Formats: sequence, structure tokens, C-alpha cells
Amino acid sequence: MKLDVLITNARVATLAGGSGPRRGRAMRDVGWVTPGAVGWKDGVIRFVGPMADVARHGLEADAVVDAGGRLVTPGLVDPHTHLVHAGSRENELALKLDGVPYLEILRQGGGILSTVRATRAADEPALMAQARTSLRRMLAQGVTTVEAKSGYGLDEATELKQLRVAQQLCSSQPVELVSTFLGPHALPPEAGGDAGAFLDQMLAVAAQVRREGLAEFADIFCEAGVFSVEQSRRYLARCRELGFQLKIHADEVEPLGGAELAAELGAVTADHVIAASDNGLRACVEAGVILVLLPGTSWNLGAAPARARFILDDLGGAVALATDYNPGSCPTESLQLIMAFAANLYRMTPEEILTAVTRNAAYAVGRGHRIGTLEAGKQADVILWQTDSLAYIPYHFGVNHVDQVYKRGVLVVANGQVLEEASA
Ligand code: NIG
Ligand code: FE
Repeated sequence: MKLDVLITNARVATLAGGSGPRRGRAMRDVGWVTPGAVGWKDGVIRFVGPMADVARHGLEADAVVDAGGRLVTPGLVDPHTHLVHAGSRENELALKLDGVPYLEILRQGGGILSTVRATRAADEPALMAQARTSLRRMLAQGVTTVEAKSGYGLDEATELKQLRVAQQLCSSQPVELVSTFLGPHALPPEAGGDAGAFLDQMLAVAAQVRREGLAEFADIFCEAGVFSVEQSRRYLARCRELGFQLKIHADEVEPLGGAELAAELGAVTADHVIAASDNGLRACVEAGVILVLLPGTSWNLGAAPARARFILDDLGGAVALATDYNPGSCPTESLQLIMAFAANLYRMTPEEILTAVTRNAAYAVGRGHRIGTLEAGKQADVILWQTDSLAYIPYHFGVNHVDQVYKRGVLVVANGQVLEEASA
């Protein structure tokens, strides 16, 4: 069989072997094959192995790319973003510098609620254009799959509008999107403080989201002054009955018990968990909940970092890393910057960080069977990096280290730039 593309003479981090996310110490095993090769046909990986086997099997390809000893990894997965929204909130920088807390800005009707006003006012083409720009930035940095939450509508029309935009983007540019319905992201002023009635309204929207096949995951902002643990439990349990898999914005600012709730409900992920209790984190690990850590948010809000070393070393948990890209708590599309933050703020090793943005992130969005590792039969989402050193990526921060990106086997980024024909 003749392959479409064969990358040769590479340091390949396959992340291969077994199933499920990697936990604890095992996150340091990135499955090196070096010098190695990766080849695919029709978007599916057919060969991953040492160079010696390339000659032995007489492998041929239409295009042979000599990596010259450089790094090859799976495409990166960003498992937590608020991709589709309108406007920006640079006005909050001055408030932050004056010491106004994030939740206080929200309480005064700004924060999430100011992006809600902008997103309600925006039409689909405007939302699409802004999100498309973000996706191009992500793709140029090697991100081939992105989770995208709604949650800047807080009403039926706008929540559905956000999810429809994500659905259209998924089929009109190379980055694959996984949608999450986050109707209860904040309590809108028109709810008059009645969180119970608002959640009932959002459950009706959730049912519509399922009918239209617009999202696989449901999420809620379980936080002091936003939605309580009891409200979140009732809401998410009902979403689970509707067929959603669950995620939770858990214990981002206050130790409310969101992590414990994620474990109790069998959520796929508990996200943020900065303020989570030891017991909450332990319960998540025991229940197989992946902890999605967002160091850019801690960095940007000046908050304490999540306790990654406790989760990895003491609990043996599975960690994924994400940008949390949104216009408030973390305005960056750069997952490579997040990788640098994870090294500095969490003391995670380069191997743990790579596992957290590939294999574990793929499981965090329910795609671990298809993406996140380089193995025969998996989708050919592949990065050829400019460097031969994995540590160089989190070490040399703030710039793009990607050379080529292949999505479903097709070259979409070269020299770190998105190819025009790929972004149509
Ligand atoms: O994950 N905390 C809730 N949601 C986002 C922030 C959204 C915003 O500030 O617009 C987060 O941090
Ligand atoms: Fe978030």
C-alpha cells in the first residue's frame, strides 16, 4: 500500500498504548519512538514505528517529509474554551489593576454579563468571523480540536445562535469543534434573582439543544454567588437524563464543593478546581473524573494555581490542560503559552504537559478513541515541530514553535502559518 504522507527521521511522541487518560506518574510516558516515522492514508494513520521498520516494510508514500530529527506529536486538543462570543473586555484590566475581584465585576453587572449583552446583539456572521479568527490562531499553534461552550446568551435564542455558529464552523474550516451547552453561566438580570426558575428555563433550552444535536456536553458555573451546589446537582442530573455528558466549572474561586459534585454525578471533567478541597479532588480521581486545569486563568486573575502536583503525585489523577479562552478571565488562544504556564505555575514536566494537551485532553472531550495519540487506525492529526526538544516548547514561551500541522491527513499549516486553502 502506498501512503499519502510519511514523516521520517523524527522524534515521535506517540502517547500510544492502553486506553483511557494517563494518570499520575504515567503522564510522564509519552511513548517515544526515535528515530521514528509516521505515515497515513486517507486521513487515517497506517504506520507508526522505528525507522528500521520503514525499510523492512518497504514503505512508500506520495510525499516523504524528512523531519531531520525534529519532534512529531499528535495535534493538540484544547478541551475548555468559550470560543464563540462578541466583543472584548479590556476595560476590565483597569478594574483588575485597581484590585476589583473578578466576581465583584460580575456582581456589578459587568464581566460575563457584559459579554452576554454584546453576544445577544451580534448576528451570526459577526460571531462566526470573530470565532474564525480565533480558530486560525489556534490552528497555527497546532490545535486541531477545540471544545467550545455557549453561555453568553442566557436566553434560548442566543444560546442556540452560539451553538449553531460552532456547528457551522466545524464543517467550514479545519479545526474540529466539540460543543458544550453552558446555559447557566450566570444569572441574567431579567431572572430577577430567581435562579430556580432560570434553571428550569435553561433545562427547556437544553432539551431543544439535544433535539437539534447541537451539543454533547452540558456545563454549569457552580460558584459562590452564581449557582449553588444544590442547584447545579439538580440541573446537571436532569441534563444527564437528556443525554448530555457532563462538565462542571468547579471551585474556580471559592471551595463550594463543585469537585465533590463532579465525582458524585460521574462528570467527564471537573474544570478549574483551584479552590477544591482535598476530598473533592480525591473523589474526582477515584471516580475517574479528568481534572481540566487552566493555568492561564490563575495567571490572569492573579489567583493561586490549581494544585497539580498534589493531584499527580499524591492522588495519581488524570490532568488535562486548556486555555479557557474567553474575553474575561483568560483572553488568549495560545495553548503553547498555557503549556509554559503549566511548567512554571504547576511544576509540571514537559512530558506531563504534552500528555495533558494531547491524549488526556482528547478523553476530556470524549474523543480519546479517535484522536490524541499517534497509533495505526487513529485520525491523522499530526504536528511537525520546529524543534527537536520537547522541553524547548514550555521553556521558550510566547512564540509559536509549530512548523507543519496535518488535520485528517491534510497539510493545513506550513512554517507555522495557516495555509489559505485550508481556511476557506
Ligand atoms: O471559565 N468562570 C466562568 N466562566 C469563564 C469566564 C467567562 C468570562 O469571564 O467571560 C471561566 O473562567
Ligand atoms: Fe471557563
